[in-house]
Amino acid sequence: MNIQLRDHWSIGGVEIPSRLVLAPMAGVSVQAFRRQGRRYGAGLVCSEMVSVAGIQHRNERTLGYLRVGADEHPLAIQIFGSDPVAMAEAARMVEAAGADIVDMNFGCPVKKVTKTGAGASLLDDPGLACRITEAVATATPLPVSVKMRRGVENGSRTCLSVGPRLVGAGAASLTLHPRSAKQMYTGTADHSLTGELVSLVDVPVIASGDVTSRAKAQSVLATTGASAVMVGRAAQGNPWALAEIMGDGHEPTREEVVAELLLFMRETIRELGEHRATGFLKKFYGWYLGHGRFPRPFKQELVMLRTLDEVETRLLAAAPGAREVLERLEAELPDPESEVLLDSLPISIYGGG
Ligand SMILES: Cc1cc2nc3c(=O)[nH]c(=O)nc-3n(C[C@H](O)[C@H](O)[C@H](O)COP(=O)(O)O)c2cc1C
Repeated sequence: MNIQLRDHWSIGGVEIPSRLVLAPMAGVSVQAFRRQGRRYGAGLVCSEMVSVAGIQHRNERTLGYLRVGADEHPLAIQIFGSDPVAMAEAARMVEAAGADIVDMNFGCPVKKVTKTGAGASLLDDPGLACRITEAVATATPLPVSVKMRRGVENGSRTCLSVGPRLVGAGAASLTLHPRSAKQMYTGTADHSLTGELVSLVDVPVIASGDVTSRAKAQSVLATTGASAVMVGRAAQGNPWALAEIMGDGHEPTREEVVAELLLFMRETIRELGEHRATGFLKKFYGWYLGHGRFPRPFKQELVMLRTLDEVETRLLAAAPGAREVLERLEAELPDPESEVLLDSLPISIYGGG
């Protein structure tokens, strides 16, 4: 079947308007990133991985990750943990927060996560991975999806044995990033495994890894039979990569680049507060202003500035026309009051016991 990027599809009962999914990325996938992703063509966006332990302890910062904007749907919130009961409780929180899909992280290769039995280490404990999936799928009526790596060790094919079992336990969709956990981000994503996984399960499979262009997206869809492609690093500070993949590509003007960066900054300040946003945003300057769009010293200059007000002033001085573009973008955003906020969660779930 020849899948077009603009074709609709669904996970469980959730309708998804394009075959392009924005990847969950810790330290990147804030609300501003997800909303921007939707505007540039992503049919589904996902939060970064949220700690189930943090949810259990009602950690304020963790609960902040459960903020859902009206223009983000369909949205998956990704949770990670290794205890089926805690995962099930977290899934109910995710549902109450207004997400459309509960995604589970069975792929994180980072030691801090794997040493707790969560993330990619679950691929080495398929029994527990299935118990978690079953507990979560039973706890919520939302579709439950799993994102995983090919396995822990290099050359592993574990995903092909674990994947169908997870579907049997209730997963409504699987995302495969076909690198091993050991590989981290080195080497290449081997999408021949994605094709094999597609042939083994009767739920949608999303292909993640090294999709950076329309040509690559089309070839991964065609050769694997996956239902959608997921894009991560290529979209960092570069929503125009998503537009290119969707067939709407153009090289942005400096004014567009600065306007999108300023909008991203303003929204992130609103989400994280000025103090956290100041450090968080620094990596985005290079991502937005790179690609030959601005000279390198300009980025370094921004990183050195003390306040975000100063960064904004400097950016507008470099591209004064951005102000008008930014005003237009802001006028199109929905009212922030339309967000599902945590204090509107049912008391029995939020803090209530
Ligand atoms: C900075 C960063 C953070 C990430 N955080 C997560 C995460 O929280 N959850 C997850 O499932 N994958 C995470 N990933 C993996 C991505 O979702 C994706 O599978 C991977 O980057 C391969 O896709 P790409 O080549 O399009 O970047 C992360 C990747 C990066 C680069």
